[in-house]
Amino acid sequence: MASSHSPGPARLDLVRIVCGDPTHAGPGFDEVEVATTLPRTVELAEQPLTPGSFGEVDLDGLTLNHSLELDIHVRATRPETAQTVLSLEGSDDVGVSLEVRRQRFCLAIGDGHLELSTRPIVATRWYRIRIDLDLRPGGRVKVDIAGLNTRSPGSDLAEAPPSQLATAMLALAPIGEMRRCLFAASAAGMRFDGRIARPRVCLDGVALRWDLAQDIRGRQLVDISGNERHGLLYQLPARGVTGPDWDGTHHAWTSYPEHYDAVHFHRDDLYDAGWNVSAELELPSDLPSAIYAFRLRSSAETDRIPFFVRPGAEASTADIALLMPSCTYMAYANHRMLIEGADFVAARSHLRPEHEYLRDHRDVGPSLYEKHSDGSGVMYSSRRRPVLQLRPGADGWNFTPDTDINAFLEHIALGHDIIADEDLHAEGIAALAPYRVIVTGTHPEYWSTKMLDALEQWLRGGGRLVYLGGNGFYWRVAFRDAWPGAIELRRAEDGVRNWQCEPGESYHSFNGEYGGLWRRLGRAPNALVGVGFCAQGFARAVGYRRSAASYDSRAAWIFELVSGADIGTSGLGGGAAGQEVDRYNTALGSPTHALVLASATEFGPDMTRTKEELEASIIVPSPDPVVRSDVVFFETPGGGAVFSVGSIAWFGALARDGYNNDIAWITANVLRRFLDPAAFDAELGRSD
Ligand SMILES: [Fe+2]
Repeated sequence: MASSHSPGPARLDLVRIVCGDPTHAGPGFDEVEVATTLPRTVELAEQPLTPGSFGEVDLDGLTLNHSLELDIHVRATRPETAQTVLSLEGSDDVGVSLEVRRQRFCLAIGDGHLELSTRPIVATRWYRIRIDLDLRPGGRVKVDIAGLNTRSPGSDLAEAPPSQLATAMLALAPIGEMRRCLFAASAAGMRFDGRIARPRVCLDGVALRWDLAQDIRGRQLVDISGNERHGLLYQLPARGVTGPDWDGTHHAWTSYPEHYDAVHFHRDDLYDAGWNVSAELELPSDLPSAIYAFRLRSSAETDRIPFFVRPGAEASTADIALLMPSCTYMAYANHRMLIEGADFVAARSHLRPEHEYLRDHRDVGPSLYEKHSDGSGVMYSSRRRPVLQLRPGADGWNFTPDTDINAFLEHIALGHDIIADEDLHAEGIAALAPYRVIVTGTHPEYWSTKMLDALEQWLRGGGRLVYLGGNGFYWRVAFRDAWPGAIELRRAEDGVRNWQCEPGESYHSFNGEYGGLWRRLGRAPNALVGVGFCAQGFARAVGYRRSAASYDSRAAWIFELVSGADIGTSGLGGGAAGQEVDRYNTALGSPTHALVLASATEFGPDMTRTKEELEASIIVPSPDPVVRSDVVFFETPGGGAVFSVGSIAWFGALARDGYNNDIAWITANVLRRFLDPAAFDAELGRSD
């Protein structure tokens, strides 16, 4: 699916991406055209993006001729902007809607407007609005608005409910046949930021009532009136969020859903662009597993839309697989950190056009690193929309560096397949079982429980893991079949994060699991891969100093060809250790028999320890002993082993001097030995 702001013909090719990194951090951009049955040329149309989550209920067969009752709880987060809370559409495009205008609730009927309150409503406060409408000639409107009490007696005095009109006159007329009810939207495109709870409408005596505490994991709006007018949610609004009655006594929606009977809509939610298909390709079953892209070239521009191909069902597999961290790609989808200058990578100011596009186009939807326009954290991200920085070269973070690892694997030519996080989630250990060696990307940060379970199980069975990145295995995420192609993240309790969960909202709506750092969930990455995130800083990278343990016969083979104690002393940013780094820490479960082969400690002052490495608010010593990157190796049961580098910057030191350097030799030595079926002797690691 493609769209262009300059509609017209474009040349379409399938290309295999060997290296998507155009900078000299890697071996150079490298793509190979692949012959296909694709049409050579496609006509690109301009396809719109319509963000904004909403709910829809079919009202076909109902009428609105004489009476309407409306009862709803509303918590507006941006009441200063014009919004539609709920609209009832008649089949003649005439309808009734509850709106927010000029910070007041407002009733719109046809072209008429009735302001329901004289005092402004307060952002993030719950109100209950009840409206009785008599549509017969000479009919009246009866309105009752109540502000629900908060935990603040002072605010409850100062923010008394907006004074209401007991009755009012309005030019009323029958609406007739009804078509649909929209929550948080109107046919005219007005959207709503905030929460809705306990909606009830009664049309000519037919009452409909939706219990939003039901199907929190899914997309249904469940009608409990008995009239079976169930609805659906679109564009992934937030569920599992606190409702009007939440008082802090419960924190898990699963244990007390009555306190979570609300849906939080955002005008900038975008789950599915819903575009028309531009071209279709059935992949040949013998297409080699690799990173591919659809390359579109018009006279004005070139774009590449990447995707990952696993071996065909009947094809044989390689013994090595590169696990593309597609959950990370989803989490960062359309992130704005390079544009809006969070503390992240301030030094990198040159954005490629694909990424720069984001600057002026918020309609592609936010990433899990942003807040919504109403200030609430973005808890869901999807790949069913344009993801602009998931382009070869568009962003020097995640996907592009991961293609540098792919290029290295192609260079050493041991044979490797491509698999992705979503495969691992969908299939569990079956996705890993064909492989003796799994190589991670540079930043495999986001893991579902099922993914982590599968990796752990595969390691117990003798798998060999090469963790070539930093800040991996950090956050828990959730998937849900009702919203395929999306992940959910609750940034609970602790960790380096651009927003924090609202109180009472640390449980994923998708599956009821408690969210947050795997470290806080009892599964620190240290226990799995020997190291865990401890510091970040993007100004420069540094080298490692080998330890005495690196000369141990258990590990000396890793350093074949390497002479000298200092390794990885050049590369992107100045060394192999940098960006986000991990350390060995037995207190967090790092195996005691692991060998710490090398450590980097001489970072610049911008490399600061992570929040979760602080308890009290202290003046951090300089140099800070917890700020380090440790390279570790250890054996596992079943003859397997783990090699972890604990640094995102490792990739940027691989390609120097045509791969003739210590970091490339070390990485290749590990891969060759891990590929050898000869079991690692776990006894060697036992200290008795
Ligand atoms: Fe990250």
